[in-house]
Amino acid sequence: MASGAPLGVFDSGVGGLSILAQLRRELPHEDILYLGDTAHVPYGARPDEEIRALTDRAITALHRLGVKAVVNACNTSSAFSLDHLRSRFSIPIIGLVPAVKPAVQATRTGVVGVLATPGTLRGTLLADVIAQWADPAGVQVLKAVSTELVPLVEAGQAGSARTREVLRAILRPVADAGADQLVLGCTHYPFLAGSIHAEFGDQFTLVDSGAAVARHTRNTLDRAGLLHDQPTPGQTTYLVTGDPDAARPVIATLTAPSGHNGNKSTRAAPPLRIEPITT
Ligand code: DGL
Repeated sequence: MASGAPLGVFDSGVGGLSILAQLRRELPHEDILYLGDTAHVPYGARPDEEIRALTDRAITALHRLGVKAVVNACNTSSAFSLDHLRSRFSIPIIGLVPAVKPAVQATRTGVVGVLATPGTLRGTLLADVIAQWADPAGVQVLKAVSTELVPLVEAGQAGSARTREVLRAILRPVADAGADQLVLGCTHYPFLAGSIHAEFGDQFTLVDSGAAVARHTRNTLDRAGLLHDQPTPGQTTYLVTGDPDAARPVIATLTAPSGHNGNKSTRAAPPLRIEPITT
């Protein structure tokens, strides 16, 4: 496999853009094919087997396009697919698991919350990291679940009144139990940071796995001799299984410098390359 081949990034929809932002910081020279399965999002409430099958179709599509590695930028998909994917494809597959370890290391109250989809909460990856890090440290992990938040982010409503209402209802018990760390166990949720802060102020430190996954991806590519050392900035192409025109404004908002981190940029953004794909 040539180091000049693109890196594949996959999510059920636009959530993986929160991981893409970190990958771009860590790997500015890589060409990236981002595949969002927007025709089938959300995955979170689907049966395990269906999540595995949809993921398989998406990664097969990226593999056919010649990617050198895949970042499975979806906690729900990772929870049911990593072993299967690694047995099927010889390229590196980097998966996600909610960032329980840093939250356990940082908590002062001994209580951490994990906000995730139903699929991620019932998968074994989360149970494994709780058993490995939280249980031995005597840290209590409180799970908060929603099937509504992912569709709200997909609809471009991360900051809406309805989103804040949902967050208020599901996170109030976690706040009342004294949690000081909140693990964002779904890649859509970093886009909710503004709404969570608006509702809960400084009650929680928000913890996600984006920066760690980006570092891990760089190390994985480096070890495999697959880092791209072209001098020019890498290109990003967005492939969506749903309607590209519907995805465009949401992708534009979530990838704009002001969309995620609150910084305003005066530079004009280059046009987005968004194309349809069938998986
Ligand atoms: N971004 C996905 C995750 O990290 C969302 C899953 C869904 O589609 O429900 O879990």
